[in-house]
Amino acid sequence: MQRLFAPRGVAVIGASTNSAKIGFRVVKNIIDGGYGGSVYPINPKADEILGQAAYPSVEAVEEMIDLGIVAVPAAHVLPVVASCGRKGIANLVILTSGFSEVGKTEEERCIVEVARESGVRILGPNVFGIYSAAASLDATFGPGGIAPGGVAIVTQSGALGIAMIGKTASESLGLSALVSVGNKSDLGEADLLEYLVADELTRVVLLYIEGVKDGERLVRTLSQVTRKKPVVVIKSGRSKRGAMAAASHTGSLAGADAVFDDLMREAGVLRARSVQEAFDWVRFLSDAPTPQGDEAVIVTNGGGIGVLATDACEEYGVQLFDEQGELAEAFKGVMPDFGSSKNPVDLTGQATASDYAEALEAVLEHSGMHSAIALYCETATSQADQFEGLLRDVYARYRGRKPIVFSLFGGRTMADVIRTLRAEGVPVYGDVYEAVSPLGALYRAGRNEDRPGRESADDMDLATVRRILTAAGREGRGFLLADEAAEVAGAIGLSLPQSRVARTLKDAVAAAQMIGYPVVMKIVSRDIIHKSDAGGVALDLQDDAELIDAYQALIRNAKAYKPSAVITGVEVAEMIRPGVETIVGVSRDPAFGPVAMFGLGGIYVEVMKDVAFRAAPVSRRTAHEMIASIRSYPLLLGVRGEGRKDIDAAARVLRKLSLLADACREISDIEVNPLAVYDHGEGVRAVDVRILFDPQEEVKRP
Ligand code: COA
Repeated sequence: MQRLFAPRGVAVIGASTNSAKIGFRVVKNIIDGGYGGSVYPINPKADEILGQAAYPSVEAVEEMIDLGIVAVPAAHVLPVVASCGRKGIANLVILTSGFSEVGKTEEERCIVEVARESGVRILGPNVFGIYSAAASLDATFGPGGIAPGGVAIVTQSGALGIAMIGKTASESLGLSALVSVGNKSDLGEADLLEYLVADELTRVVLLYIEGVKDGERLVRTLSQVTRKKPVVVIKSGRSKRGAMAAASHTGSLAGADAVFDDLMREAGVLRARSVQEAFDWVRFLSDAPTPQGDEAVIVTNGGGIGVLATDACEEYGVQLFDEQGELAEAFKGVMPDFGSSKNPVDLTGQATASDYAEALEAVLEHSGMHSAIALYCETATSQADQFEGLLRDVYARYRGRKPIVFSLFGGRTMADVIRTLRAEGVPVYGDVYEAVSPLGALYRAGRNEDRPGRESADDMDLATVRRILTAAGREGRGFLLADEAAEVAGAIGLSLPQSRVARTLKDAVAAAQMIGYPVVMKIVSRDIIHKSDAGGVALDLQDDAELIDAYQALIRNAKAYKPSAVITGVEVAEMIRPGVETIVGVSRDPAFGPVAMFGLGGIYVEVMKDVAFRAAPVSRRTAHEMIASIRSYPLLLGVRGEGRKDIDAAARVLRKLSLLADACREISDIEVNPLAVYDHGEGVRAVDVRILFDPQEEVKRP
């Protein structure tokens, strides 16, 4: 990776003397960008390009080349890759389009295969290049003029990436790196993140993702990176149509958006809703100091926008300083009689510019106030020139000490101030929500440091689980029978209702006495699949007498339903008392690997889709967060005089299933449905568990 971001020699294969061609543009950007190493234009017909000696092939260059930028038409790419391999070039950035994104997957696979054979790594194909501030290298065909700074952008969309170069200039955003990943035939986001997390110049990473290839690795890498640096992601495909467009655009799979959203949150990634929001966040995050605590103070000259800012703080998770006595003391010098020193601190329209500056100074100097939200409504007496200078001074005093955001509201005067200060990098916005949103992102990013690490499955009997799966796999089955699934559940400490199959009435009575009343009884016949329809199920049997009656009724009903049915006997099972019905499961997502799910049963999951997802395995804390994140959570907290349910016990089951699915990669689906959750302290009971697996996966396991 070092040789990609700080190469000791760059070849541009397909460099051209024709200024309209991409191969020309790349050479020009490399030279204009101030790259300190040697650049070798490769073109069989030219002697010299932009003042640099040209070579017919990379192999004709004697010096060491670390990086090759390939800008030849698709049909020529394969021999070029082979030649670069012979030359010992470490990395190739293949700009050429016309591979898997248009269905030419085989051609792309061949290129990767040839590259692998000679140890060459590939970025692309179908990319616009790479910019690295560490080497002052602009090996893109973008407009040039990228300013160095602390933000690394990794983008799957080339067009958006090129447009971002222009936007970074207009937003005065400096970049540490800009990488286009295109078709991700070899190197993907995870590889780049592993480099960027250790890169000293990079303070924050912005990812634009359309489709995810190795989602499991991406999530794992992201959870590690976000502990050290903030990562902001924009992913297209939020809407169903958007997802389809993204999938066809990149030829890769766009993971279901709800899953993506939950996994990103769990990995500590900040997901922005728009490119503008993402830009606002990364710009603020790359510059703002780390807040020394959670509490923010809103200073305003207008009550209305103060209230709006309070709402925005709630939405973006920004806490407000609430010590009334200290607030009154801190602002007493600037507060008019009719103002309010409650937070939001309202200086009213009477406040002069110097009152305003003084109030912000008070926030800066108070050790319990950790960040400031400065709101200003234009007044009849506002003087733009004065005000602009004032905000500039306030920002200069805050910078490096406490985070501050400004929101200015008014006419052309305010619009001019906003434009001027933004161009200087001051975090000033027109709308209150726009101002609070980056501050919220900063706080959320800060909370990543104490996210829990990975859990282990040490307390589970995985040997038993594997034995059962292997035996079932030998029979060519991809699912477990009820008794096998129950044994797996037992091995991870989850008990299912006890049950016995009885062939005679006498056996049935004995089984019920052993299990203990109340019991459930079901007909057992391979000819009767829908037992309830056949009148083959009896619930809540309280004693021997009820059981004997029910036994006879079940046999009678079954014979009437299907006279030819062979009846093996009845199953007598423990009656599980009703509780709040939940569903807990883990299933293997094609893009992200095992994903844990929690939801309330019945209509809540089927109609309202009220479920939460996280990457498995989940920690205790994450399991609790998942449960608390569903809309129907109040039902578990207890409604209408009912007590709180045993949420801890439900979280334990969730954690266990997720650990199991993570440890036994052959399990593709495991679902406990329903899991009855009882009152606090009374635990949970699994009523049924279903396990699907892929016997082939087991063979692949190391
Ligand atoms: N070695 C070295 N040079 C070679 C070569 C080889 N094997 N084969 C061709 N060349 C030279 C050509 O002679 C030409 O130089 P010239 O102008 O001196 O004749 C140069 O390489 C470029 O080849 P050309 O045939 O003119 O192609 P082009 O510049 O029109 O297009 C691509 C090449 C790669 C730009 C084009 O195929 C493409 O993929 N465009 C899309 C790029 C894109 O959008 N990428 C994704 C961005 S997100």
